[in-house]
Amino acid sequence: MNAAAQARNVYLPALLSIKEIISETQDIKTFRLGIKERVFSYEPGQFAEVFVPGVGEAPISITSSPTQEGIIEFSIKRAGTVTEAIHRLNTGDLLGVRGPYGRGFPIEEMHGKPLLFIAGGIGLAPLRSLINYVLDEKKRGEFAEVIILYGARTPKDLVFRWELEKWKQRGDIRLIITVDRADMDWPGRVGLVPVVLREDVELKAANWKTITCGPPIMIKFTIKALREMGFAPRDIITTLEMRMKCGLGKCGRCNIGPHYVCTDGPVFTFEQLRTMPEEY
Ligand SMILES: Cc1cc2nc3c(=O)[nH]c(=O)nc-3n(C[C@H](O)[C@H](O)[C@H](O)COP(=O)(O)OP(=O)(O)OC[C@H]3O[C@@H](n4cnc5c(N)ncnc54)[C@H](O)[C@@H]3O)c2cc1C
Ligand code: FES
Repeated sequence: MNAAAQARNVYLPALLSIKEIISETQDIKTFRLGIKERVFSYEPGQFAEVFVPGVGEAPISITSSPTQEGIIEFSIKRAGTVTEAIHRLNTGDLLGVRGPYGRGFPIEEMHGKPLLFIAGGIGLAPLRSLINYVLDEKKRGEFAEVIILYGARTPKDLVFRWELEKWKQRGDIRLIITVDRADMDWPGRVGLVPVVLREDVELKAANWKTITCGPPIMIKFTIKALREMGFAPRDIITTLEMRMKCGLGKCGRCNIGPHYVCTDGPVFTFEQLRTMPEEY
């Protein structure tokens, strides 16, 4: 949050107008909101508390890239009280947003490096912010090779299909999409993300940074595969989801040992995670 917004009131959300709603899957929608830089500027990997008056708020990753001016996007899965209320909103309605919060991805450490993105399900939402930052024509030259491995349970569970098509057309990245279970129309790869990682991705891990997000079971086996491929713990970067309330390091709701995920994270390297108690 910038100084002017901070000085206002950290608990007071900015009310942003919904410009567009994209139905991604049966229970996930992307909300495109209008912003003015003065009210809200952010880095890839940060999250915000999204608020519906009279209902409550929920922490949600920012999925748009800050290189895209005038809008901010959230992709939200219908999970309970707040997210169901958000799903009932229409274009033109206002959504409360306070933040941004947390530490984003360590972009400077990624400069000049090849990047391997690995996402599962809606775990692509926070990575998409960084992917589109890296792929932006103003930034692309600052990074080397890019591989994106994305998996979902079934073809119907793939999010951002409209954007995956655009990424597929690019000549400067490699995109691998896989599903756990295919249907009759699926022409592509079938297999769990860690299995496809081992079988389809060959690289000299010493140079690479990898950024991963997905269900805990996927992360566990993906990290195992990455370690066997030779990735150092400091080069494996992930972003955590813990129960949160304030987002500001004040309520103590999100701690792992002495660390607060909302302010010390949500982005951590595996080097940091393996020194922490296994609560994540
Ligand atoms: C940093 C961060 C980023 C996130 N990014 C996204 C995102 O990009 N998109 C997205 O869709 N979601 C994201 N989430 C998850 C999202 O915040 C939750 O799904 C949301 O808070 C649910 O709110 P709700 O009020 O709709 O659901 P609730 O009504 O709170 O409940 C949702 C479900 O969780 C269960 N539940 C509630 N409390 C607990 C508990 N203490 N322990 C275990 N289960 C519980 C409920 O029984 C219910 O099934 C993120 C979370 C964090 C922390
Ligand atoms: S959510 Fe309140 S301290 Fe982290």
